[in-house]
Amino acid sequence: MPEGKSLSARADELEHAEIEALEAVPCSSVIYTSGEKDPTAPVLTPFIRADGKPLLMSHDKRLKRMPDKPHLLDFFKYRFFPANHVLQSATLAKKAGHPEKVILACLLHDISIMGFIRGDHGYWAAQLVAPYVDEEVAWAIRSHQVLRFFPDPDVGYEYPALYVKLFGEGYRPEPYIQAAYEKLRQHKWYMTGRLITINDIYAFDPNAKVDMADFTDIIGRNFRQPEAGLGFDDSPSAHMWRTINWPTRAL
Ligand SMILES: [Fe+2]
Ligand SMILES: [Fe+2]
Repeated sequence: MPEGKSLSARADELEHAEIEALEAVPCSSVIYTSGEKDPTAPVLTPFIRADGKPLLMSHDKRLKRMPDKPHLLDFFKYRFFPANHVLQSATLAKKAGHPEKVILACLLHDISIMGFIRGDHGYWAAQLVAPYVDEEVAWAIRSHQVLRFFPDPDVGYEYPALYVKLFGEGYRPEPYIQAAYEKLRQHKWYMTGRLITINDIYAFDPNAKVDMADFTDIIGRNFRQPEAGLGFDDSPSAHMWRTINWPTRAL
């Protein structure tokens, strides 16, 4: 026993070492690090990195633990970054007197950026919520991905000045986005998607007074929260909610 250490201190150390040894190793998916490093470059597989330790297969203790049956609001609380932007959009839509479907679409339109994947965020968000909302809501969230790039002066939507700042003067949407726009323009729900872009807030105000409590009734009436919890209800997007809950599982 090292000099100067009590028996109990030594016992604590041993116990800590034992716990460390049993600690599961979290694994980051390729997509989380792709770009930071070349995804095709050789890497040590998690199995080798773990050095005999078990690989993580559920909760990552570095994250806030979610309830066993997570509600949409739990994802806002434990996994999404502050909802100020979407709350401002939904507040604007509510003040303008739009139907609850539009308000909900505004509230959910950027959840993919907030807690999942940035690129193609409108498509990912639409897929996440599709099993739980009216088809028109998911359609609108999906279409905002494309519509935001195209002005519609007839209804007061200009190309956002923020985008010039963010993407540069020379940015032009890819041809597939242009093609998608032509189709969306003809769709019967075009205006629902367009309303997301109109109520989107392009000048972010961190001091705006917004409150999720203003929308819990609308969520209750328009979002079919599964009894088993998001991620555990066997819906077509349950796996995506589970991945947000437990993002670093080995498989
Ligand atoms: Fe968006
Ligand atoms: Fe947005």
